[in-house]
Amino acid sequence: MTRKKVTLPVLFKKVADGEPISWLTCYDYPTAHFQEQAGIDMILVGDSLGMTMLGYDSTLPVTMEDMIRHTQAVRRGSPSAFLVGDMPYMSYQASSETAVLNAGRFMAEAGCDAIKLEGGAEMAPRIAAITAAGIPAFGHLGLTPQSASAIGGFRLQGKSALQAKKIMDDAKALQEAGAVAILLELVPDRVCKLVTAEAEGCIIMSLGSGPDAHGQLLIYHDLFGLYPKFKPRMAKVYGNAGEIIENGLKQYHAEVKDGTFPAKEHYFGMKNAAYDELVNLTEETPF
Ligand code: KIV
Repeated sequence: MTRKKVTLPVLFKKVADGEPISWLTCYDYPTAHFQEQAGIDMILVGDSLGMTMLGYDSTLPVTMEDMIRHTQAVRRGSPSAFLVGDMPYMSYQASSETAVLNAGRFMAEAGCDAIKLEGGAEMAPRIAAITAAGIPAFGHLGLTPQSASAIGGFRLQGKSALQAKKIMDDAKALQEAGAVAILLELVPDRVCKLVTAEAEGCIIMSLGSGPDAHGQLLIYHDLFGLYPKFKPRMAKVYGNAGEIIENGLKQYHAEVKDGTFPAKEHYFGMKNAAYDELVNLTEETPF
């Protein structure tokens, strides 16, 4: 199936038409191919790849090199989805100049359509600098995994009125700085609804923050039981690929051991004449 490229105007039209946007994380070529075929609107190459693909306990060890390599593979698998590159830890926090240079790498080397970075009003100057460089920037508020230590772990954010107001103020600051979209991760549904209602020229996406945003994001591994350590409550499981893979691997292992694999159809023979000639040749020049 060949799809029309999803661009920012296409996304804003969906918002205007009231059509929710679908968004998934993705980190590799084959999965990107399947997401392309499924018609997923947006793909995030998240620095969550540090946990889902590389087995770290957090996203902090992920480098720009890791991100670029995986994002290039995803772009090859999905030419049409709107592709967002996630700025890894310390690729944008230190200065606006570093932020612009690293955001530029996502666009030039990996074929991204936008980048995403975490943080509230304090990150507005980074969003403004990246936007001024002509690069569409997404904000990320609520549970921001790169500051998990500072915000007390992977838990619901904005539960109290004061905390919720801070999220709303941060969303406004990011929008004023030029953010084209903001992801709200794990905030109460009514906070998400308020931020979405107040958004102007900015797409609000929800990850575990309820149905009232302009669209939904999930971590791909959570949809299919592919992350062995835990399944967050916000994720819906659409199939247990992890179980299928584990059972298949056990069967392969057993079949190699008992000789069931390979069967005749899994390898190739040789014509008798060629084999006889080979035997003659090896007799003339023994090994
Ligand atoms: O890295 C990522 O996948 C993310 C999501 C958790 C939103 O930033």
